[in-house]
Amino acid sequence: MRVLLTGGAGFIGSHVLGNLLANQHDVRVLDSLRPDVHKGDSWIPPEPAEFHAGDVRKPDVIDQALKGIDAVIHLAAKVGLGVAIGDMPDYASSNDHGTAELLAGMARAGVKHLTLASSMVVYGEGLSHCREHGAVAPGPRQPAALRAGNFEPPCPICGCPLAPLLVTEDAKLDPRNAYATSKLAQEFYATNWARAIGGSVAMMRYHNVYGPGMPKDTPYAGVAAIFTSMLLAGRAPQVFEDGGQRRDFIHVADVAAATVLACEAHKTGVTAFNVGSGTPRSVGEMAQALSRALQGPAPVVTGQFRLGDVRHITADSSRLRNQLGWRPQIEFDAGMQEFAAASRDTSVIRANYGAAGQ
Ligand code: UD1
Repeated sequence: MRVLLTGGAGFIGSHVLGNLLANQHDVRVLDSLRPDVHKGDSWIPPEPAEFHAGDVRKPDVIDQALKGIDAVIHLAAKVGLGVAIGDMPDYASSNDHGTAELLAGMARAGVKHLTLASSMVVYGEGLSHCREHGAVAPGPRQPAALRAGNFEPPCPICGCPLAPLLVTEDAKLDPRNAYATSKLAQEFYATNWARAIGGSVAMMRYHNVYGPGMPKDTPYAGVAAIFTSMLLAGRAPQVFEDGGQRRDFIHVADVAAATVLACEAHKTGVTAFNVGSGTPRSVGEMAQALSRALQGPAPVVTGQFRLGDVRHITADSSRLRNQLGWRPQIEFDAGMQEFAAASRDTSVIRANYGAAGQ
């Protein structure tokens, strides 16, 4: 297939690119090399991929990039939670305006197949189980409760403690920050487009992706990269809340395989796929695993919190397994050890280059 991969120079994108090339696809990468991610560095695609440097929001760039293309994987986006309310316009512009221009361009070019990077953040707090009321969706987190160290969201009906459940793709959509809102809007634009032109969309709701090449030292770095950077600097990972918040940490190689599989196999209609390992862990457990792997200081639980954070969000990815035959290959402990080792090697290389250049 001739595939246009937007955001192919990024963390997940570069792994998707490797996977597409390994599967013998012709790949054209479109990436704007955002300065807040790439810090002005140039990027050379691996052979034989073709590279167009440009922004998805520009119709002429899109028209050029879509020439001769059979299917699109759209990963180009501004990621992270959003640092401040002032970030909202950039999320709307980069993610939603960008997707709208891409879809309009695909309609002009007659390209009908899209695989879209979405996120588990579209579910907000997801679903939990109340002994009294069964499955319930926890309400928004209350600053006063968080300040008092009450991190577990209670049952919205009776206030009793809840046990987190795995969310399926049919769970209520409840975006709770600018990034989540922009991801959900992308899904809705793509759904409208598919209906109007008879296209297909696979919406990949990634859980917490980690692995080699993960962005670090930016405001948009995920927690695994933040902890690794701290440990490599000899500092203890700072675990927010009480460390009991649960996530599904999934290795980037498994995410890339799922994305390419969806691009190859999903050719009709609109389908959302959760992309998670199926084995949730707490952030505290993850900090301990990295600390062990890097033989660094033990994690410190700080009680700090971020209002936009959800408490627990964990996926049921059986649709992806059943419909596309995907299986995650890298289990948590082995993945964390590999990630820690790769981060250590990168920092040693950086240190050596730095020393050589002085
Ligand atoms: C992450 C991604 C988001 C993606 C989602 C699903 C980032 C910044 N966010 O959201 O783009 O859509 O996964 O794949 O990559 N924490 C600490 N200490 C820290 C930093 C964070 O304990 O120093 C905690 C947070 O409070 C939170 C958890 O770690 O409870 C995860 O945070 P983060 O890595 O930012 O990820 P998500 O918010 O889950």
